[in-house]
Amino acid sequence: MVSPRTFRMPVSIFGHGSSDNAGAELKALGAKKVFIVTDEVLWKMGTLTKIAASLNAEKLEFQVFDKLPTEPTVEFVEEGIRLLKESGCNIILAVGGGTPIDTAKAISVMARNPGKIQDYIGANKIPGPGLPLVAIPATAGTGSEVTIFTIITNTKTSVKMLISSPYLMPTLAIVDPLLTVSMPLGLTAATGLDALTHAIEAYVSRKAQPMTDILSLSAMRLLSANLPLAWADGKNLEAREKTMLGSYQAGLAFGNASVALVHGMSRPIGACFHVAHGMSNAVLLGPVMEFSLSGNPGRYAEIAAAIGENVAGLDDMAAAEAGARAVRRLIKYLEIPRLRDLGIEKTRFFELMPEMIDAAIASGSPDNNPRIATREEMAGIYRQAY
Ligand SMILES: [Fe+2]
Repeated sequence: MVSPRTFRMPVSIFGHGSSDNAGAELKALGAKKVFIVTDEVLWKMGTLTKIAASLNAEKLEFQVFDKLPTEPTVEFVEEGIRLLKESGCNIILAVGGGTPIDTAKAISVMARNPGKIQDYIGANKIPGPGLPLVAIPATAGTGSEVTIFTIITNTKTSVKMLISSPYLMPTLAIVDPLLTVSMPLGLTAATGLDALTHAIEAYVSRKAQPMTDILSLSAMRLLSANLPLAWADGKNLEAREKTMLGSYQAGLAFGNASVALVHGMSRPIGACFHVAHGMSNAVLLGPVMEFSLSGNPGRYAEIAAAIGENVAGLDDMAAAEAGARAVRRLIKYLEIPRLRDLGIEKTRFFELMPEMIDAAIASGSPDNNPRIATREEMAGIYRQAY
């Protein structure tokens, strides 16, 4: 028996060239002046050329906010709100990876709600809706364009604040695989493994539901087969499209089934050592999977089959272990380093470990894991990832 579950998603447009019509879509949503939150690198790479042209074609004025740091912070959300209010824009367009989209989500709700973004840590604390938001991802990974989550770093406390609210769901998601063609190798690997982590964690999550199961399994098939191809040849449009579709499906899956131990332990690494989100997940995925298999061997055996392992004749635990080995091979093939190779100093890492474990537990994500980790077990996983 399935207990009642909510499944949320925004209106979405998926496909090659879909972002070329961003201007018309914004106009249909009542845009008068558009506040664009993006990354300045994307102008140089040409990712925004056609999007800006589509706004011009609709005679839509816009104000650009693109001087973002590598992760969304409280300061930049506040700066964005100030600029937005000065500009008189009535709709927000976010283009880029997790940083612009998460920043834009926070700006959107804080434009119409009292207080500070820090007041709304946790679930369902935001009192009312924000400005309409159109999200266009330019990486195939975060899934933020289709979720009710935003993660904002409080630089004063070094905490990645997880905030969830239906009011953080974008009004419209435009998912255009062509925007990912110019992504560099390392970013392709890290964001793609973030997406694979979303699919795996949503599938084994204690909050998994029938709708998310379909999406998780499909995302795992698409990502395991196509991410290596997109990584090896960024111009392979079919591989880029299927990787993007996998990321989109994985976003819908974890948006409704939540994430688990990998994400719980990954956010504190990002907050303390400024490691990009996809990378901190990628280094943890192998050790966390191996730890978690015994919590639900049946589900991990199905994951093994979905990512292309031949599990015929194997019992669930043997199949689950084969799946974990395949994920390890993929991470190695994509040249993901260990934490010690990312310039993180050993003494500092071990000093901060108790604090990171506190933050992981406080996020609530580890409670969704099929096997609940003790503090000592989390320390063991961090040591392996280092
Ligand atoms: Fe993620």
